[in-house]
Amino acid sequence: MGFTSKLGQALTTREIVDLVRDDLKLVERELEVESVGSVEAVTQIARHLQRSGGKRLRPILLLLSARASRTGGDALPPIAIRMAAVVELIHGATLIHDDVIDVAQTRRGRPSSNVIWGNHVSVLSGDWLYMQAFQIALRERNFHILDMLINLTQMMVEGELLQLERIGKMDISEADYMQLIDRKTACLFSVCAKLGAHVAGASESFETRLGEYAWNVGIAFQLVDDVLDFTARESVLGKPVGSDLREGKVTLPLIYALETASEPERRKVATVLAEKSYQSVAFDEILAILERHRGIDRVRERAQQFTEKARAIIAEFPDSPYQRALSAVTDLVTDRDC
Ligand code: IPE
Ligand code: IPE
Ligand code: MG
Ligand code: MG
Repeated sequence: MGFTSKLGQALTTREIVDLVRDDLKLVERELEVESVGSVEAVTQIARHLQRSGGKRLRPILLLLSARASRTGGDALPPIAIRMAAVVELIHGATLIHDDVIDVAQTRRGRPSSNVIWGNHVSVLSGDWLYMQAFQIALRERNFHILDMLINLTQMMVEGELLQLERIGKMDISEADYMQLIDRKTACLFSVCAKLGAHVAGASESFETRLGEYAWNVGIAFQLVDDVLDFTARESVLGKPVGSDLREGKVTLPLIYALETASEPERRKVATVLAEKSYQSVAFDEILAILERHRGIDRVRERAQQFTEKARAIIAEFPDSPYQRALSAVTDLVTDRDC
């Protein structure tokens, strides 16, 4: 499953991906090689995840960042490929754990690993994948890289813990929500760009600024993910729609709608949260509430603000096809439908 995007943008999705297509092939090979454990289940789960596709957005971001950070047109150092595999492995580990926690049934259009192998094996395989990512990173003997990755992993785990604390709660503020998506999503995007800059030998300030660009992209990405949870079609998204509320997660479209919702409307949302299903209140009724209070539109506007900020930052960077691609990635994030 790759990106699909509705709008014509400065650079098309294909043009963006083409810039790193050869690199991505090497990343896939690295993932194949590094996804082999001495216990069969680990290898099976890792393969299942890798072969179900996924957009590979994080490796793409890392590779484009690395290429945008180089002055000459020379080939990327092999460490860039290895780090791109590392971030995809970490992403994969978080997805496996997330699906156990969310009792998810589908991931990347296929049954999630918890459905096939059960929670116990999935949790341990997720742990194994994290450690495999760290093994690869450790081979570089580079404390800055390890520092970033350890900090990142702790942040992402904190994000999932914060989410668990808030499950089923309706009184979530926009600030609470932002704190959560910073940890669960934007931090990883930021680290991808920073790692790319770092392995390409960029200065610290260059690395920091590129990290800020990607953080804004990451926030917009999660905002759109939470919109798609209400608006997408399951066959395109690769996971069921309406899952967030059913799983007890009140995301920004609903937070906005609840600001002006009537008491009966609030009760409907509370009912879905309590029943953990759309049994008494249909999903369409929730969509109607969002529509009446402009929940979806407001979040889309908010996502645009973050991508505008990202584009403003990337405009400071030296012009190159990679710099332009990083700018165009922002459209890809906001206009995607999966
Ligand atoms: C899913 O990320 C997890 C979120 C942060 C919403 P992606 O939508 O990038 O997942 P894949 O890798 O393409 O499957
Ligand atoms: C994002 O959380 C997943 C991680 C960052 C681990 P979600 O629960 O919103 O992601 P999906 O919707 O399952 O992909
Ligand atoms: Mg989930
Ligand atoms: Mg989600």
